[in-house]
Amino acid sequence: MNILVIAAHPHLHQSRANLALIQELRKQGDFHIRDLYREYPAWHIDVEKEQRILLQYARIVFQFPFYWYSCPPLLKKWFDDVLTFGWAYGPGGENLLGKEFMLAITTGGTEASYRSGGDNSYTISEFLRPIEKTLTRCNGILLPAFVAYGVKHASAAELTETAAKYMEFIRSPRAVLVH
Ligand SMILES: Cc1cc2nc3c(=O)[nH]c(=O)nc-3n(C[C@H](O)[C@H](O)[C@H](O)COP(=O)(O)O)c2cc1C
Repeated sequence: MNILVIAAHPHLHQSRANLALIQELRKQGDFHIRDLYREYPAWHIDVEKEQRILLQYARIVFQFPFYWYSCPPLLKKWFDDVLTFGWAYGPGGENLLGKEFMLAITTGGTEASYRSGGDNSYTISEFLRPIEKTLTRCNGILLPAFVAYGVKHASAAELTETAAKYMEFIRSPRAVLVH
């Protein structure tokens, strides 16, 4: 399966978790990775180019660190700019019909903190609703998210293990992920 990974980390050079995931993706060699903050340092997104690239992939993964219960701002801008009326949704906007979308997120908070009564009160799924609905509104098929919780204090060995799980997860057929 051809998979596009759109990564959005404002400070990838300072990252541990997202960098570990990206390095593993690069090692595997069969993913197309786009580093949005490197691609668009001035934030002028080339909409036509992004749309052209999207058309080439069956599965699109958005990978990012969780920032204030959402995605980093350049990825939000990417959604705003690229998912246009008449292209991604609305009359004639069926270019993403049937494509599989997945979110891959790293968090500072632990898994236990993301629940009712926990430090973060809500589950990740609850926080992700606006992004998830954006993607299904654009005719995409939403797959379960890959979430690496509590990465701040993860050891190098734990990050290596997480990266291996990530590879397996994002390659898994839909039938395996959704049951
Ligand atoms: C501006 C900012 C906002 C953040 N907001 C959250 C948050 O809402 N929830 C959370 O669990 N972690 C939050 N964090 C922690 C990051 O998600 C965490 O440091 C990141 O996933 C680690 O990945 P990295 O090593 O690739 O940077 C935030 C960090 C920053 C800098």
